[in-house]
Amino acid sequence: KKISIIGVPIDYGQSRRGVDMGPSAIRYAGVSDRLEKLNYVVNDLGDVPVTQLEQYKKKNTDNLNNLEQVIEINENVAKTVDQEMQNDYFPLILGGDHSMALGTIAGVAKHYQSLGVIWYDAHGDLNTNETSPSGNIHGMPLAATLGIGHDRLINIYGYTPKVKPENIVVIGARDLDDGEKELIKKENIKVYTMHEIDRMGMPKVIEETISYLKERTDGVHLSLDLDGLDPSEAPGVGTPVIGGLSYRESRLAMEMLYESNIVTSAEFVEVNPILDEKNKTARLAVGLIGSLFGEKLK
Ligand code: ARG
Ligand code: MN
Ligand code: MN
Ligand code: MN
Repeated sequence: KKISIIGVPIDYGQSRRGVDMGPSAIRYAGVSDRLEKLNYVVNDLGDVPVTQLEQYKKKNTDNLNNLEQVIEINENVAKTVDQEMQNDYFPLILGGDHSMALGTIAGVAKHYQSLGVIWYDAHGDLNTNETSPSGNIHGMPLAATLGIGHDRLINIYGYTPKVKPENIVVIGARDLDDGEKELIKKENIKVYTMHEIDRMGMPKVIEETISYLKERTDGVHLSLDLDGLDPSEAPGVGTPVIGGLSYRESRLAMEMLYESNIVTSAEFVEVNPILDEKNKTARLAVGLIGSLFGEKLK
């Protein structure tokens, strides 16, 4: 199996500097070596071009901060991901703030009749510019892939919608805004909050997720925001929320996903080395990537 690593050093989707260095931090933590040891052919394409402004200028249009930059970068992300999939590489995308999912899913979804998405995150990222309390686009990508939100966001890569609401599973949610809760109800989106995970246990949650997605999808994109994990273990994130998932249960989740063989693309996002402790969060991301690609069994 062949894997393409694609870095997206984007920080325009939120307001804390440093998350643009996430892809480098994950590379320094040894992601390529780890995958090569598992006998994958690994092709690191480097980073999608992102122009860094010398002074961070937050331009707000319609409650959408840095809209033009986010759009431009994500059109490139979509194109790169699409190309790698056409060449039969598994796209493994490293971030960067979660607004990059606008581009990754736009590139991936074209290749499937009915793409599934696992959104492993403390947040739903289901805001629109009308419901967002912050105007930060990293809180909006999952809504946008459903075709809900601002025209410019939903039409990235020239088509909408990318994913059906019944094909989404959110895991780890514990900080949902009012507008997001309404949207979850209205679209009947499957969400495992920390409450359900604590009650059921991670094995049951992942078993259900796998059989639920197997029934209705022909490919699954894993979008893993490191803030899904507890900040005591993953401190290097811009929007930490206490009461999160442990590394152990996250690793188990990745191992079970590997065994199920349903995941066809993946991204690991929101690693911010400036807020981190000795690259702990990036190293944790690499551990999860190892598990997702079958480390336990080899
Ligand atoms: N819900 C909040 C907002 O819309 C926080 C979003 C955090 N998203 C993330 N990808 N870390 O601003
Ligand atoms: Mn998050
Ligand atoms: Mn909040
Ligand atoms: Mn997120």
